[in-house]
Amino acid sequence: MMMATGQDSVKVVGLEKNKNGFWLRIKLMFSCISSRSKVDNSTVIEPKPVIEKREEDGSPKKPLMSGGELKYSSKLRIFMFNDLKLATRNFRPESLLGEGGFGCVFKGWIEENGTAPVKPGTGLTVAVKTLNPDGLQGHKEWLAEINFLGNLVHPSLVKLVGYCMEDDQRLLVYEFMPRGSLENHLFRRTLPLPWSVRMKIAVGAAKGLAFLHEEAEKPVIYRDFKTSNILLDAEYNAKLSDFGLAKDAPDEKKSHVSTRVMGTYGYAAPEYVMTGHLSTKSDVYSFGVVLLEILTGRRAVDKTRPNGEQNLVECARPHLLDKKRFYRLLDPRLEGHYSIKGAQKATQVAAQCLNRDCKARPKMSEVVEALKALPSLKDFASSSSSFQTMQPVGKNGVRTQGGGGGGFVSRNGVPLRSLSSLNLPQGSSPYRYARGSPKAKG
Ligand SMILES: Nc1ncnc2c1ncn2[C@@H]1O[C@H](COP(=O)(O)OP(=O)(O)OP(=O)(O)O)[C@@H](O)[C@H]1O
Ligand SMILES: [Mg+2]
Repeated sequence: MMMATGQDSVKVVGLEKNKNGFWLRIKLMFSCISSRSKVDNSTVIEPKPVIEKREEDGSPKKPLMSGGELKYSSKLRIFMFNDLKLATRNFRPESLLGEGGFGCVFKGWIEENGTAPVKPGTGLTVAVKTLNPDGLQGHKEWLAEINFLGNLVHPSLVKLVGYCMEDDQRLLVYEFMPRGSLENHLFRRTLPLPWSVRMKIAVGAAKGLAFLHEEAEKPVIYRDFKTSNILLDAEYNAKLSDFGLAKDAPDEKKSHVSTRVMGTYGYAAPEYVMTGHLSTKSDVYSFGVVLLEILTGRRAVDKTRPNGEQNLVECARPHLLDKKRFYRLLDPRLEGHYSIKGAQKATQVAAQCLNRDCKARPKMSEVVEALKALPSLKDFASSSSSFQTMQPVGKNGVRTQGGGGGGFVSRNGVPLRSLSSLNLPQGSSPYRYARGSPKAKG
């Protein structure tokens, strides 16, 4: 049984065996949005009533855990449910930031250095994630989030401020990321992200994975790398959130850990799906998928497209290694405002990350190295003469803007320029291409 949370992120409800005999974890979706839409604005969306419990000294009661161990991190603040309720103005719809497989995320305001709620717009702005108490994996993933993210600090990781655990309530409190998720910017907003911002985000996210794999005291496999888990601060710095599926990486003697297959369709590495063998190279593959989404503006899996075009990697693979036609992959909404050298390089990196042989994929530090100069390259295709000649010519002889000349990208299954829209005689081509690809300068 499956439910969609957008076009790509199909999560599984319960546990199911896939055709290879492996367990797919499918997150239980519950909708706070649909229930909210039936109520008026004054309705309080309260996860569940709780009886507040306190230690003898008046501090919030320390959680007694079952089914997992909570490793305390002195950095984390422990919140009372009532304080988070007030901080988010009673979890009211206006405070809702988004909804994922485990619950709703609300905006709230707390004291700069404490846990008490403060007036909206003052103190520290936070995002409060409420976990659905009926979720099958909820508690385990809540725990993983605290145990991993609570102990990791890096500019490319979202900061976990603290958590709340009272009876069956499980909440997480994060630093607020004002620009939301990369998914929203790539696929939901009307204004396309500029090229340099896309590359900045790719570099930031790559640094996050490189830190987890190669720099953290105990290396970590992230396992849920996708656009909705890449959050953006005011300057579009990318930060990874959601460590619910994270796993300790195997020590150097071992190449992988064997585990149940969990994650999101379209992003998981083929060897992991087939064998359950998980390694840091599985994250590298997922990075390749996201990089491809950034380049193409297309979702990893898009069920609105015709069969055979729904899986981005499958569609893109033949173009990835074609050095002359890499530009066919690029998001037509960029309208040529991309660096030719940068796009060539990024496409190459995506191809390496998506190598079917996991050992042949690069390390994330190598990916960072390859991508880091890309945000500042300025050899824009739109100003190259060969790009101009790639533009389709209308019947009046005027070249139209946009498209990059590709037959690869269409939106929602509808080609951006159809033959009929150009009103051409039957059989004639609406496109006129330069013989080769636009040339990179220097
Ligand atoms: N720290 C944050 N600051 C701002 N917005 C956030 C923050 N954390 C989450 N959000 C918003 O809430 C949405 C839901 O996040 P959540 O992690 O619960 O679900 P998801 O990533 O969409 O799906 P999944 O359950 O698979 O992780 C995000 O897409 C984002 O828009
Ligand atoms: Mg998420």
